[in-house]
Amino acid sequence: MPTPLAPLPKAELHLHIEGTLEPELAFLLAERNGIDLPYATPEELRSAYAFSDLQSFLDLYYRLTAVLLTEQDFTDLAEAYLVRAAAQGVRHAEVFFDPQAHTARGVELGTVVRGLARALDRSEERHGISTGLILSFLRDLPAEDALRTLADAAPYLDRISAVGLDSAEVGHPPAKFTEVYAEAKRLGLRLVAHAGEEGPPAYISEALDLLGAERIDHGIRCLEDEALVARLVAERIPLTVCPFSNVRLRCVDRLEDHPLPAMLAAGLLVTVNSDDPSYFGGYVEDNYQGLRRALGLTDGQLRLLARNSFLASFVDEARRAELLAELDAHPSSG
Ligand code: HPA
Ligand code: ZN
Repeated sequence: MPTPLAPLPKAELHLHIEGTLEPELAFLLAERNGIDLPYATPEELRSAYAFSDLQSFLDLYYRLTAVLLTEQDFTDLAEAYLVRAAAQGVRHAEVFFDPQAHTARGVELGTVVRGLARALDRSEERHGISTGLILSFLRDLPAEDALRTLADAAPYLDRISAVGLDSAEVGHPPAKFTEVYAEAKRLGLRLVAHAGEEGPPAYISEALDLLGAERIDHGIRCLEDEALVARLVAERIPLTVCPFSNVRLRCVDRLEDHPLPAMLAAGLLVTVNSDDPSYFGGYVEDNYQGLRRALGLTDGQLRLLARNSFLASFVDEARRAELLAELDAHPSSG
């Protein structure tokens, strides 16, 4: 048997740090913080990971954030992700966090950012992974809450590279956050937004036109609008697609039915990511390998996805060149 090749070097651009909370760590933190979980064992919790749509997942995802209280908790959460990501070939990670999910429970924004930053700041040295942090607004809360959160983040802006928009999509169009994104841009932050996961293709156009989003998270429903696809191709707008997430949240029936091959064939700048890997059955390389198995993606296509991830990332040009050179030197047959 030939030795298996190391995973392709890649960037992960769509990853919610709260969605990396594995049941074992949830139990450990619950015990450390004296919090009761409504499950007897990690296995019992894991068996609750059966979702009917985005909201049914979000309900559990927010409930489990209750175990995250101290700076150390956030450091441990991020460190556990980075260890797993390194084993999956991740060389750069742009990590979402949901400040409002924590401040609403009385955990201060500084506790969250300092805790996460402690792990992220030493990640290049420890794990060979450079990092960015994306402050994500909960779109089902009022825009005024988002504006307040952005103002409260002022002391931490040197550690935050971008803003994003997540949580329940339908009924909360990007237009609601026009003013928030204008302010984020004024502050020098990069702009991304979830759109076209459960919401219609029009939300993708709105995210581009009204928010100035530079990258679209998910975006799979763009395929329902030919003119939008042509625009995304022409403007080279990256889409951070999350195949396991799409199946687990029932946006796509089976991995075999995932539109990723059609998106590549259309010439879209697609990347593959894990979204909430603890909840959706795998980390980023697991998604790559799942696509290979279910859809017969070739080595060349997987290599293109890895390349796209570096092209779509917010690294500086020196780091991008380094990452692309590492990919070129990787001995896959693609
Ligand atoms: N979509 C919207 N909100 C989220 C997600 C997602 O996939 N993951 C965590 N919050
Ligand atoms: Zn997401």
